[in-house]
Amino acid sequence: MPKTRAYSISVDDIAAERERVGGDLAQVNVANVIKLDDLELRDVGPTDVHLKILAASGEHNVEHGALADTINIADARGGKIYPGNSALGEVIGVGAEVSKFAVGDIALTHCNGEPDRFGFPLRIWGYDQPDSIGWYSEEAVVGEWQLVKAPLECGLNLWEMAALPLRAPTAYHMWRRALGIYRVKVTREQQAVLNVMSFGGGVGELFLMLAKAEGHNAYFCSGSPARRDALEKQGITGIDQKAYNRFASRDDVKAFRKHVAQITDGEDMHIICDMLRGPVFPAGFAVQARMGVNVSAGWQLSQVIDYNSTIASVKQVTLDHTHYETLIGIEAATEFYGRVFKPTVHEEIYAFSDVPRAFEEMHQNTQTGIPILRIASDLPKSVRSLVP
Ligand SMILES: NC(=O)c1ccc[n+]([C@@H]2O[C@H](COP(=O)([O-])OP(=O)(O)OC[C@H]3O[C@@H](n4cnc5c(N)ncnc54)[C@H](OP(=O)(O)O)[C@@H]3O)[C@@H](O)[C@H]2O)c1
Repeated sequence: MPKTRAYSISVDDIAAERERVGGDLAQVNVANVIKLDDLELRDVGPTDVHLKILAASGEHNVEHGALADTINIADARGGKIYPGNSALGEVIGVGAEVSKFAVGDIALTHCNGEPDRFGFPLRIWGYDQPDSIGWYSEEAVVGEWQLVKAPLECGLNLWEMAALPLRAPTAYHMWRRALGIYRVKVTREQQAVLNVMSFGGGVGELFLMLAKAEGHNAYFCSGSPARRDALEKQGITGIDQKAYNRFASRDDVKAFRKHVAQITDGEDMHIICDMLRGPVFPAGFAVQARMGVNVSAGWQLSQVIDYNSTIASVKQVTLDHTHYETLIGIEAATEFYGRVFKPTVHEEIYAFSDVPRAFEEMHQNTQTGIPILRIASDLPKSVRSLVP
């Protein structure tokens, strides 16, 4: 059985940190909960691939796992999880029946843990899929079906590529769903160019890149000047969320509403991506155009939303909830690496030993882009030229 070092989140560490801060979740230091562990991987079966993880991106479900603020996933999974559902690795071994990958290939993981009959995930790998072991580890054994060939020639550097395996398919799926729903109501011939807005975050940024690439007006409402600047360079208009106090009061929402009306000639936003919920949701709802679509696959600030159903009906607004892509959709999303998806990466590339700190900084919302974790200090020759 291959052995490796991998990060884990355990109920004991969650409980110890909660006790340290007297139960005040706002004081939790996520770095105290994410611990480096030794792990025995399963034997490489006939359809398995043995991976050396080179780089991974930090994902919010790890923060949720460490805080146990949505569900206590470590508890639900029997006391401990090994998180990590977005990684880039080198194939170092293959089972006898593996046909798509050979030793030396570079692969991306995806996190569709168990497709339903339509291909959508019932659960997420490295999170709520039973027995799944995630990829914040030096090595991993995964089924061949969980891997996509890394598009090494796409023009992105290694860290940018590592930023995308989870976020890009999520954004791709939300975009095709939201646009499809809008087009059921308003055809292309009736209205070609749409106003598309997203709130902060890596998924929202990628969503806007898709909208922009198809010729729509794209608006990024974020509190981070660095992230807004990066998107402005791609022709995506920034809206400073902090100028509206992150929608703390009704007056802030009113002022935001006025601003959006001005910049859209009174049209408002036809499609909105909201991965955050909480105070962001009513602000988005207030600027939703008639026939609009509000799409979400996240609940970072709140799991519950509240809205006026009459207003939604009269304006013919659709709220759509998605999760993650189908396997075939994940392959399709990968085609847009470098062409459309040019992710913003946080300025520091974290070393393997700094993974806990990376998650605390994500929790503090101080990162200037998607956090990248460099897992392997020694990189294979095939990707060395892709390191900036
Ligand atoms: N279902 C799925 O398949 C799926 C996939 C990916 C992500 N998600 C979920 O979607 C959410 C966003 O993920 P992401 O990867 O896009 O995020 P990300 O790149 O890590 O960015 C998080 C963003 O949250 C915003 N934020 C933090 N605190 C805030 C606050 N108090 N008020 C308003 N905004 C705040 C920040 O926006 P500013 O720029 O405004 O500071 C930041 O850019 C997470 O909850 C994640 O778990 C779900």
